Amino acid sequence: MKPAIPLNEAYWSGRYTANQTGWDVGAITPPLREYFDQLGSADNRRILVPGAGRAYEAEYLHAKGFTEVFVADIALDALAALQERVKDFPAAHLLHQDFFTLQPSPPFDLLVEQTFFCALDPTLRPAYAKQCAHLLRPGGTLAGLLFETDFGNSMEPPFGGTREEYRTYFELYFNFVHFETAYNSLRPRQGRELFICLKKR
Ligand SMILES: C[S@@+](CC[C@H](N)C(=O)[O-])C[C@H]1O[C@@H](n2cnc3c(N)ncnc32)[C@H](O)[C@@H]1O
Repeated sequence: MKPAIPLNEAYWSGRYTANQTGWDVGAITPPLREYFDQLGSADNRRILVPGAGRAYEAEYLHAKGFTEVFVADIALDALAALQERVKDFPAAHLLHQDFFTLQPSPPFDLLVEQTFFCALDPTLRPAYAKQCAHLLRPGGTLAGLLFETDFGNSMEPPFGGTREEYRTYFELYFNFVHFETAYNSLRPRQGRELFICLKKR
C-alpha cells in the first residue's frame, strides 16, 4: 500500500473538481448518526471533524444545536459545499488547513473519524494517532469508523487495514472504550468497518 502520487491539496481538490468522490454517501452514516443521538443534549463541547469533506456529520451536529463544531479539510471545494448547504454554519469554524498542522488552542472534546484515516498515506497512520491525541483534552474522545478490510494492493485511497494494526497506533495514547465491527453500517460497508470510541489518557 503506497500512494502512486502525493495525496496533497492538489490531489484532493482535483477529486472534488472532477466529481470523483465515491466515498461521499450524501448524508451522515447510520453509525455516526446513532452515536451522536446518544450524546445527550446539545452543548458547547468542542468538536472537530478532520478531513471532513462535505461534512454531513458537522451539518447534523450543528442542526442538533451543538455550537462549537469545527471542520478541517485541505480541499476548499469541500468546505464550500458545507457553507453552501448550511448557510448559518459559522464561517470561522471552517478550517482550510492540513490536519497535521492544527493546534489544540483550546483542545477539543471530541474528534470524529469518517473515511479520513483511510484516505491518508498509510505511513502517516502513527502521526494521525499522535495528532488526534495532541488535539484532544485528557479524557477527550476519538469516535468514528475505520475500514477493517483489504482494498487490495491499491495505489490510491482508500487504504484498508486490520484492527490489530490500528491497535498499535492508538494504544500509545488512548484507552479503548469500543473497538468492534459496526452493526449498523451502510450496506456496502457492512462487516467491513470498525466503530471506535477511544478516550485519550
Ligand atoms: C475520502 S475523503 C472523506 C471526506 C469525508 N470525511 C466523507 O466521509 O465524505 C478524505 C478527505 O480528507 C481531506 N484531506 C486529505 N488529507 C488531508 C489533510 N492532511 N488535512 C485535512 N484534510 C485532508 C480530503 O480533501 C478529503 O476531503
